[in-house]
Amino acid sequence: MGPPGSGKGTQAAVVARHLGIPAISTGDIFREHVAAGTPLGREAETYMERGHYVPDSVTNEMVRSRLTEADAVRGFILDGYPRTVPQVEFLDEVLTAQDVELDRVLLLTVDVEEVVGRLKRRAGAQGRHDDDEEIIRHRLRLFAEQTAPLAAEYERRGLLVRVDGMGAIDEVAARMLAAATDDGAEAAEPASGATGAASGVQSSVDGTAGRA
Ligand code: AP5
Ligand code: MG
Repeated sequence: MGPPGSGKGTQAAVVARHLGIPAISTGDIFREHVAAGTPLGREAETYMERGHYVPDSVTNEMVRSRLTEADAVRGFILDGYPRTVPQVEFLDEVLTAQDVELDRVLLLTVDVEEVVGRLKRRAGAQGRHDDDEEIIRHRLRLFAEQTAPLAAEYERRGLLVRVDGMGAIDEVAARMLAAATDDGAEAAEPASGATGAASGVQSSVDGTAGRA
């Protein structure tokens, strides 16, 4: 978990490589459908281009289907899912049905202006339509309002590990690997405090000390 630009995709790839399991990014799957012009892609695009969340019903069924693919049997990393309360509930049901448990929930924390800068740079390099500054700020607000509060639930379950997402990609990767593996979990920054206040989004994605 983490706000837009926090490094979810970059770091999920590192951890996935290390653990030999797939990184499943709902954003990437949606973009593949958009590029292929499928009905799902045409529907998702109407939300994505404005920085809105794709409806839960669409997203959930897509994830259910992806988790049944052969490469996910030995484990998987979810990047950018779940983002809403219904998605948390749906994932619980799917995993219970498969007799699988989440090992850990990693929350990347970043300064807001850092992620805005990263995404504006990516806009120049890659041309993602939602990397326009106004849409970036909308995506950050949506994260603060709908997704950051989910951290409290995973914290309650004892699964949440916060990972400092600031600094060079390699430095963050070392923290992510430590947090993702058993040896490193205790060394990782312990979860603390409540998260999820939707206010204060201008200076902080979740209102806690300038970090999301
Ligand atoms: P998604 O593609 O997941 O977008 P996002 O959450 O906005 O996050 P990003 O992919 O922009 O950032 P990231 O955290 O992956 O960071 P990254 O590693 O790329 O979702 C897109 C859309 O799909 C959503 O808006 C929504 O419409 C829909 N969607 C997806 N999931 C959904 C769901 N569950 N429910 C409903 N709708 C859903 O890094 C960003 C940039 O920074 C890159 O250029 C990278 O190279 C660079 N970078 C990374 N780390 C560092 C670092 N440490 N230092 C400097 N630069 C860095
Ligand atoms: Mg991503």
